Amino acid sequence: MSRLIVVSNRISPPAPEGASSQGGLAMAMSAALREYSGVWFGWSGESTGQYTGQIAMQRVNGITVATLDLEEQDIEEYYNGYANRTLWPLFHYRIDLTQYERSFGEGYERVNKRFAETLLPLIEPDDIIWVQDYHLIPLGRELRERGVKNAIGFFLHIPWPARELILTLPRHRQLVESLFHYDVVGFQTDEWKNAFQSYVVYDADGMTLSDGRIRAFGRTVRPQAFPIGIDAKGFAAFKNSDVAQESFTRMTESKAGRKMLLGVDRLDYSKGIDERMLAFERLLIENPKLKRKIFLLQISTRTREDVEAYQDMIHRLDALSGRINGANAEMDWIPIRNVHRMHSREELAGIYRAADVGLVTPLRDGMNLVAKEFVAAQNETDPGVLVLSRFAGAAQQMREALIVNPFSQEDVADAIKRGLAMPVAERRRRWRALMDGVEKDDVVAWRDNFVAALEEARDAGLKPP
Ligand code: G6P
Repeated sequence: MSRLIVVSNRISPPAPEGASSQGGLAMAMSAALREYSGVWFGWSGESTGQYTGQIAMQRVNGITVATLDLEEQDIEEYYNGYANRTLWPLFHYRIDLTQYERSFGEGYERVNKRFAETLLPLIEPDDIIWVQDYHLIPLGRELRERGVKNAIGFFLHIPWPARELILTLPRHRQLVESLFHYDVVGFQTDEWKNAFQSYVVYDADGMTLSDGRIRAFGRTVRPQAFPIGIDAKGFAAFKNSDVAQESFTRMTESKAGRKMLLGVDRLDYSKGIDERMLAFERLLIENPKLKRKIFLLQISTRTREDVEAYQDMIHRLDALSGRINGANAEMDWIPIRNVHRMHSREELAGIYRAADVGLVTPLRDGMNLVAKEFVAAQNETDPGVLVLSRFAGAAQQMREALIVNPFSQEDVADAIKRGLAMPVAERRRRWRALMDGVEKDDVVAWRDNFVAALEEARDAGLKPP
């Protein structure tokens, strides 16, 4: 079996005790690599005074983890700059928040070169290389320029935006052209894949071939959807842990007979947390009888705090939940519990299980694994109801959730009401169907499907024309 080299900006050690602020990528990758003899390469998360190009190697649970320190300027221009001030907002349809600075683009290219240079000596001829996410789009091209002939695949964890949006990015052609140095380019859903394809056909004079590959810039690549899943087996262990049991009991007692609505997110403007709170307030105002009978627990962990849009978001959310509480609370009841503390995965499993309605209402999201973990954490005899945004990639698969338009307060409020009133037989039926999908399309299936597609592309490339 070939070795698998995974490259991502963010690395988390493949240990079970990840914290909830980790995004979907880090959690999924640690599970995906577990059964592989592989290497996981990425940024250490640390900064050094001056860049040295030294990598630190560690062996964790059978995986070689290789990390690289970056210098302050790299972190500012590449991570806080191009990745999180330019690409993230743009790819989440927020051109109003997107900043274009030439120095960001330069830092992005420089760090991708640094990744390529330091990774190069670790690559063996049979390795399969799998690059993750928007931080590292140019890495495939940089590796090819250094003579790497291995199969190289890329997977985008976030949405691919409509062509009208990507056209606002200076040097958009160069970014898209870099993707043509991979053998396979993976997206979470067909929707994002089609958006990419539409740019290639209409803005890059490309064409779709009969076998589904696309051709442009003198190269051919296979775009394909590979919806990511959770580590369903690993999650079952969290769910059955003592810590989960304790947090479930604690949460149930604290509910004091009330129904709990739950949101769990990184504190990111793409997650629709403000809109969710407003929808919840509307529900209370229009249904005063629900007051005192329900509350919203919103756990939002701070993230990317060097970026202004995230700082603004923290203040906005705290002000909003404070206002809603001030206007609606009573002496012995508070509508919103607004929590920024991080919770362990085990604690979260217990909290999910104690919830009556899970609210996953992003305005735009590549997939959203909270939706899948919420389902996996439920108790089958008395499962909670999932309310899910149609703009999360997860909505393409999780049809038995209550699918909502997160921009409409009325729509979200109606779905919450419906979830609260749903008879147990219907809750069980919907949950069973959702759980079957979560178990079948798990992270292992995602990895195996991607690696199989990449091996196939490599073998096709080896055949004489
Ligand atoms: C999303 C991205 C990941 C990223 C994660 C956490 O899930 O797709 O690439 O790692 O958010 O964000 P951070 O900036 O802390 O790595």
